Amino acid sequence: MRNLTEANVTDAVLAAHAGCSEARLKQVLESLVLHLHAFLREVEPTPEEWLAGIRFLTETGHMCDENRQEFILLSDTLGATILIDAINNRRVPGATESSVLGPFYMDGAPERPPGTDLGGSDGPHVRVAGRVRDVGGKPLAGALLDVWQSSATGLYHMQDEAAPPYDLCGRLRTDTEGRFSFTTRRPASYSIPTDGPVGRLLRRVGRHPYRPAHIHFIVSAANYTPVVTELFTEGDQYLDSDAVFGVKASLIVPLKEDGTEADGTPCYRLEYDFVLEPERAPAPRRTPSSVGPLEPAIHLRPSAPARLEKDNAG
Ligand code: BEZ
Ligand code: FE
Repeated sequence: MRNLTEANVTDAVLAAHAGCSEARLKQVLESLVLHLHAFLREVEPTPEEWLAGIRFLTETGHMCDENRQEFILLSDTLGATILIDAINNRRVPGATESSVLGPFYMDGAPERPPGTDLGGSDGPHVRVAGRVRDVGGKPLAGALLDVWQSSATGLYHMQDEAAPPYDLCGRLRTDTEGRFSFTTRRPASYSIPTDGPVGRLLRRVGRHPYRPAHIHFIVSAANYTPVVTELFTEGDQYLDSDAVFGVKASLIVPLKEDGTEADGTPCYRLEYDFVLEPERAPAPRRTPSSVGPLEPAIHLRPSAPARLEKDNAG
């Protein structure tokens, strides 16, 4: 391991990991080294640029505490979160598609009765109703829907001092016919946090920080694979430029006018059926040999945790 050059340093680093006895760790490290070195060969950073990158990651770490996870935000805004979600949620056709969990899920929302009002103080009321069924169409009685959303002003309950705990959140069970219903307020599109290095990066590359209006759900039932997902309201201006790349066509739903508020403004109705697939064994992992050699063209392309709580980890 002497006289290392541009041409042989990658092999030398790979050889240094040859004795690793943990197969998965070895695979991850080898792939990381291959891709990192390919990235460096493609970009050819100057020492100043490399230091700027290290400074950015250091600031990202300094922004993290028990309430704020800037690294997850970075993963979200670079499309890594939704890619990991896609890799780990290859569902059968017809099953409800998954999407990002986001940082505002809080375990322990109160269980509420069918038809409950999730609270909120601003914006038009929306009546949400539908069924949970399996891919064969069988209604799933007793399925659990864990629901959370931001208010009409774009804040989650923990971000809004005026909001009661778990405002616009709740856990509901389906009835014997798999039906659920609740009332909520029309969600608004909102900005992800922009006061840290991720916000700075978005501004610098000319990206906006907005997510289209959505309601988050974790839907689970015994013997079925739970789904972490979100429903987006049709017509939102950010559907095609979600800052965290979470939108899927099958998750966009219309808000239909349904009566009026006391002041004559419209109320809405949202209907959606969630479809679960049977519990499945974890997907087989590709082995290093099946991944094949790294082609020069497979560089990290510029583009776009598992924080699923215990009850729903399938
Ligand atoms: C959310 O939808 O709550 C969210 C997802 C990713 C980053 C920030 C917020
Ligand atoms: Fe959200």
